Amino acid sequence: MRIEVRADSGEPTEADVLAIPVGPEGVPENAGVEAAARVADEEGLAAEAGRTAVLYEGPARRVVVVGMGPKEELDADTIRTAAAAVAEAAENVGGTLAWRLDGSLAEPEEARAVVDGLLLGTYDPGRWKTGASTEPPFDRLVLVGSDDATLAETAERAATIATAANRARDLANTGANELTPERLADRAAELAGAHEDLTTEALGPEEVEKLGMGAFAGVAQGSHNPPRMIVLRYEPASPEGDVVLGLVGKAITFDTGGISIKPALYMEDMKGDMAGGAAVIEGLGAIAELGLPIRALGVVAATENMVGGGAYRPGDILRAMNGKTIEITNTDAEGRLVLADALTYARQLGATHLLDFATLTGAMERALGDLYAGVFGNDEAWRDEVVAAGEASGDHAWPLPMHRRYRGYIESAFADMKNSSVRSQAIPAYAASFLEEFVGEGPWAHVDMAGTGFFTWPRTDYLAQKGGTGYGVRLIVELATRLAE
Ligand code: BES
Ligand code: MN
Ligand code: ZN
Repeated sequence: MRIEVRADSGEPTEADVLAIPVGPEGVPENAGVEAAARVADEEGLAAEAGRTAVLYEGPARRVVVVGMGPKEELDADTIRTAAAAVAEAAENVGGTLAWRLDGSLAEPEEARAVVDGLLLGTYDPGRWKTGASTEPPFDRLVLVGSDDATLAETAERAATIATAANRARDLANTGANELTPERLADRAAELAGAHEDLTTEALGPEEVEKLGMGAFAGVAQGSHNPPRMIVLRYEPASPEGDVVLGLVGKAITFDTGGISIKPALYMEDMKGDMAGGAAVIEGLGAIAELGLPIRALGVVAATENMVGGGAYRPGDILRAMNGKTIEITNTDAEGRLVLADALTYARQLGATHLLDFATLTGAMERALGDLYAGVFGNDEAWRDEVVAAGEASGDHAWPLPMHRRYRGYIESAFADMKNSSVRSQAIPAYAASFLEEFVGEGPWAHVDMAGTGFFTWPRTDYLAQKGGTGYGVRLIVELATRLAE
């Protein structure tokens, strides 16, 4: 999607589709479409973000008048939802979309939200349907009403990021028969091939064994598809500061639960248990594409969690790369095991600031639903930076507490710790205290995106698609942008 910015000349805008947002003040006088105010009024459009009416006459083939909802609810998400609704209302037209900026938010925020809504809101998870198209519905976007020349760049950045998020969704939606750990590593290699400053390598079973990654290897041993510990390094020519951002991702390409097998209902959604890893890979791809001046590395632990004669069992004791021993009490608590070694390795590779993304606990989804991810950390300032980047980017995140007493839940009679507790309390929190055992020295934060990473039930806003959401990509790029400043 090409993006242009045009100052409002009062002349009719040449476009295939013209979007006119209606805020609480109604349709602006200079919108240039007489019927717009009437239809907005008669259809009560302003009352609800994303309510649309389509006019077939006017300066464009279609004029879509779209409600922005009540003033007190107006935020970037309402604009995203309005933009997604416009795209849906005019999806059969395509071509050029002109969007009248209405000053509801600061222009860069409004432009970013419009781009997000158009690109994320029109993502089609039905990629495997016969005849499906994967192209975005519009090839050109004209933002009307600004004389700020840098605005197009801001909007183009947003398009790069949203496109990367949609690629992460593709990865999450791809079945585990197609997206094996090796294929995920291939995707990382494809990105590295496209960007000079990005390199990748993928460790297979022998290297994993040699490095002593016994927790990761334990989970992987039940699958016929060999695991990959995927490493990405982003080294720009002139990085700012001393920070090395270490992004770690859980990439269980399918989680059956293992011997502690999951119930059948919705188990198909566990193809999305690699969404954290996908966010890290595509997030780093976007960072490289934007050429952000910050050093970053990614460690993505990719494996299946399967049932079979070779599978690890409850009662097994695994030794992680940092030497700590883990009693397995539930093979379905596999995410923390693969992250344990990935975190240790990321620190060993030189990460100063660690951040992991994982669809880690079903309880996280129960607690905050599909809207907010929970963020834990061993350093409040770092955790709050992560939360702030999430909130600014549209990937909602909220801080949750860590306390040494949660560590008590995973005391083991046999080993340094166990991987789960029969107490069904504070499940996301004691999972975080498990991870903390492996983060080494320095700031670390953990994003539990079990509810936000993959939708079992579609949402009613701009992310109205079932399946992968691309959660984390926008947060990662926003955080890296802030660190580079
Ligand atoms: N991948 C799941 C968590 C999950 C559940 C993500 C539902 C998205 C939707 C994870 O590996 C898991 O099974 N966690 C267990 C942990 C428990 C055994 C301590 C869980 O949440 O039940
Ligand atoms: Mn599991
Ligand atoms: Zn899992």
